[in-house]
Amino acid sequence: MADVKEQIGKHWTEIETPALMVDLDIMEANMDKMMAFLRDAGAGVGIRPHAKTHKIPQIANMQMAKGALGICAAKLGEAEALAEGGVPDILIANQTVGANKIKRLAELSKKTNLKVAVDSKENLLDIARESAATSGNVGIVVEVDVGNKRAGVRSHEEAIELAKLAASTPGVWYAGVMGYEGFAVFIPDFEERRRVAERAYDILMGYRDAIKEKAGLDSGIVSAAGSGTYMFAAKRKGLTDIQAGSYIFMDVRYGSTAGVDFLNSLAVVTTIVSHPEPEVYITDAGQKSMTQEFGLVTTLPSYGLKVQSMSEEHVTMRPTGEPERLPGIGLLDEKYGKEAKKPFKVGDKILLIPSHCCTTVNLHDILYAVRDGVVEDVWPVAGRGKFA
Ligand SMILES: Cc1ncc(COP(=O)(O)O)c(C=O)c1O
Repeated sequence: MADVKEQIGKHWTEIETPALMVDLDIMEANMDKMMAFLRDAGAGVGIRPHAKTHKIPQIANMQMAKGALGICAAKLGEAEALAEGGVPDILIANQTVGANKIKRLAELSKKTNLKVAVDSKENLLDIARESAATSGNVGIVVEVDVGNKRAGVRSHEEAIELAKLAASTPGVWYAGVMGYEGFAVFIPDFEERRRVAERAYDILMGYRDAIKEKAGLDSGIVSAAGSGTYMFAAKRKGLTDIQAGSYIFMDVRYGSTAGVDFLNSLAVVTTIVSHPEPEVYITDAGQKSMTQEFGLVTTLPSYGLKVQSMSEEHVTMRPTGEPERLPGIGLLDEKYGKEAKKPFKVGDKILLIPSHCCTTVNLHDILYAVRDGVVEDVWPVAGRGKFA
């Protein structure tokens, strides 16, 4: 592969493919739109954007500069990569378990304002012991189940016990509560989604209140929500922050979810490598560069091509039927689709839109940051594969 830094200043069509790119103007507009929405909602809810989507410290630092309260990470390794890149405030929104990982966690707490989700006494005490022994200081966010039936304590009593322990044990401090309503974010019916999400926030507030009442502890952080529910959480007084991540890039699945009004900024640049029949176009990007668990990828509507199938290294497209048009695709299409010279021939570069941005980013070493069609920067996906 060509030296990626050498690609700075080149037109996007000169990038070696398959490659992941983001349109910076669109991504920044998504960030600004979210900040404005939160501000206008007037409920005092901020954002702690989830970096599981981008895994790139430069993007996390942009989010901080635009007013994020901190950054969420999915895993310890991701948090280490973010801290290495200068991210000053990180919440690992999952449990971190195991002796060696807890050593790394305690070390990391000396480099960034670190908080971690905890839902068991054993885990909390292991973290406190290691942290105290090495002069660390780890914030404990009690994870509660708001209906997801994944991690998270199942009763007020357990949450109160954990909060009290966090507040009274050296090496750790009580940072608050979180409860992610992942089961709500893709509910197709908007009003039904609102009802389910509001019920989850009621449950989360119930935990916050019980901890206040029975342990006398104020929850600094009361955190919830993703890109499919931010619009409800933003108006909910008492929540301190939302954990949305995908809103900056968008993808086919979120783009097809009612009310998630952000623009597609992320694409995979691919080359048409074969045109074996008049109506068949084959690209050099497939499942190894774009995940498929949320369905097929799509193309820009102006191409007039429809994705038929994906295999490991290929996507097959035909100029048949109505091309799919995601509500948020317009600007990307305007910038990169309208200029395409048709009919396409072997060697032409086109953009594909991932169906799931977070797992697709995880397949790439590099994200090309493009502005006005030109590569402005190349960012290593520092947290890529850092799931341990
Ligand atoms: C703990 C947690 N918070 C928030 C999110 C929201 O992310 P998204 O913006 O992709 O909906 C997720 C998604 O998996 C999550 O696991």
